[in-house]
Amino acid sequence: MRLPARLSHPLRTALCTVLSTALAATAAAQGPTTTCLADLDLALIRQGWGSPQKDRAVTGRPLAIAGAGFARGIGTHGKARIWLALHGAAQRFRATVGVDDGATDPARASITFTVFGDGRRLFDSGVLRRGDPGKAIDVDVTGIQHLLLLAGDAGDGNDSDHADWAEATIVHIGPAPRVVAAPDEPAELLTPPPPLAPRIHGPALTGCRPGHPFLYRIPTTGERPIAFAAEQLPASIALDATNGILRGTVPPAGTYRVTLRARNPHGEDQRTLRIVAGDQIALTPPMGWNHWYAHYDRITDELMRHAADTMVASGMADVGYQYVNIDDCWMNAAKHRDERRVGPLRDGNGDILPNAYFPDMPALTAYIHARGLKAGIYTSPGPTTCGGFAGTWQHEAADAARFAAWGFDFLKYDWCSYGSVAQKERATHREPYRVMGRLLQQQPRDIVFNLCQYGMGDVWEWGAEVGGHCWRTAGDLGFELDRIFEVALANARHREWSKPGAYNDPDYVQIGWIGEARTNGEPRPCGLTPNEQYSFMSLWCLMAAPLFYSGDLRQLDPFTHNVLCNPEVIAIDQDELCQSARVVELGEDRFAMVKDLVDGGQAVGVFNRGEFPAQVEVVWAKLGLAGPMVVRDLWRQ
Ligand code: GAL
Repeated sequence: MRLPARLSHPLRTALCTVLSTALAATAAAQGPTTTCLADLDLALIRQGWGSPQKDRAVTGRPLAIAGAGFARGIGTHGKARIWLALHGAAQRFRATVGVDDGATDPARASITFTVFGDGRRLFDSGVLRRGDPGKAIDVDVTGIQHLLLLAGDAGDGNDSDHADWAEATIVHIGPAPRVVAAPDEPAELLTPPPPLAPRIHGPALTGCRPGHPFLYRIPTTGERPIAFAAEQLPASIALDATNGILRGTVPPAGTYRVTLRARNPHGEDQRTLRIVAGDQIALTPPMGWNHWYAHYDRITDELMRHAADTMVASGMADVGYQYVNIDDCWMNAAKHRDERRVGPLRDGNGDILPNAYFPDMPALTAYIHARGLKAGIYTSPGPTTCGGFAGTWQHEAADAARFAAWGFDFLKYDWCSYGSVAQKERATHREPYRVMGRLLQQQPRDIVFNLCQYGMGDVWEWGAEVGGHCWRTAGDLGFELDRIFEVALANARHREWSKPGAYNDPDYVQIGWIGEARTNGEPRPCGLTPNEQYSFMSLWCLMAAPLFYSGDLRQLDPFTHNVLCNPEVIAIDQDELCQSARVVELGEDRFAMVKDLVDGGQAVGVFNRGEFPAQVEVVWAKLGLAGPMVVRDLWRQ
């Protein structure tokens, strides 16, 4: 129909009404739509193992519950979490749930299926085991915005928990449901911007060994240029007053109390730094950046230099991030998809050779040191590293000396392939670390020693004895990012072993842009919600964990920066008692962490690991506190 150009307003309205009424009548005539969940984009489903499968069990086999086969549905693995945005347009959710017949260990295969609509429990299957017939779900979801489907582990861990959502459908009128990571949460920037006047941050002390090179960039926020000064500085150390970098040689054993000052037109700050020259280094948890979860086997000298530059330019170094660490894949491999990483593993003298992407290691560490930062490197005690590159097996002394000569200040010592050359008994868990720990102590520079053997042989009990400063307490967190609370709570169990120079390491802070661990993927925004990212950082700081950001520094967005760079939160991590917080249970899905601080105060974190907002009441007595207290919110300062 052609409408005349000068149609009057009321008529136009009337015509529109007629048209839209006609459209609505057509939709109603078509009736509600039934959408199979298996037809949605499943990428944002989180689960404990493997990936969600369309019309298949998690193993890839046809869906089958107690002998009954199903053509359609989703195969997941506990603990699985499926968030669906229903837009208030759905009417019913239907499915048959159960443990898949392919679950490997029948004794451990037990799952609870629950369904929540906007926080209200709509369905609870109770515990279902392998062989139990599927349970039918048919619930009213009218008006609901977000539906949550959970497959829990029934309290016995998630082994063999192959969770089927067979024939799962949503009946809806209007927009189709969508799988989302979680209901939208605002990415609120809690950390206030630093004031323009200088503020000196960082721990109150630094440990170093007499006669070794000394390097310390005074972590200071505020508008640059800032004029620095240092009083009672040992004669062997000099300050660059323009950038606040202290450099020189560690003086004879003793404690040197240095007064640091920082001034700009907006104001002045001062602080005492204790330089503790003696046997111990890493007197507070090491902090920095590690390449692994951003660049995997794509790491280059150029990316490392860029990381060092960004740590300074972004202000990360101003709040204490210090080490710039290369992980695996800097050496040559016998075989690799990238030809430039293939080549001779060692030279004629048996010295390890970097690959073509690392043309000059001393130049790289010099570049990092010139910015007042420190450099870290990685190897494995086996013949090859986890990535299949040249390892250190039978070249321990040469490699330790080489890393020191190149100018590295930190070594991460993995485990991969060592099992193939050693017997699997407790002594061997320890042996390669004892050997390397002693060798590192013989080098003419301070090298922080990071054990990466996933907690084998109760490493927390002996890590410090073999010269380690921190030790991973579990496998790679990159594979378990949906379980940060569980991983943190498991790490916190070893709290009694945390002390100055000795830290439990729950792995890197993986927020912002990171690459997927299973595929060594290119960086993309991590799946954690804003609140989960705050929790991540709070947990790590309360546990005195080594604080290494392992995300893409080329894409350091304001939210990630604000989570990483709150000096008052970092100060909890860097507190010189180095205590890992004790955990106080506060009922289902809620807990607190409480940590004593050197100034007599306590740091307290209150956590809700549930899926919905919760009201949490904490009384002082429960936290071991008494009397009136002054409380400060460290995130908002
Ligand atoms: C793993 C280690 C990771 C990373 C990787 C390199 O064993 O836990 O953090 O270093 O090896 O291949």
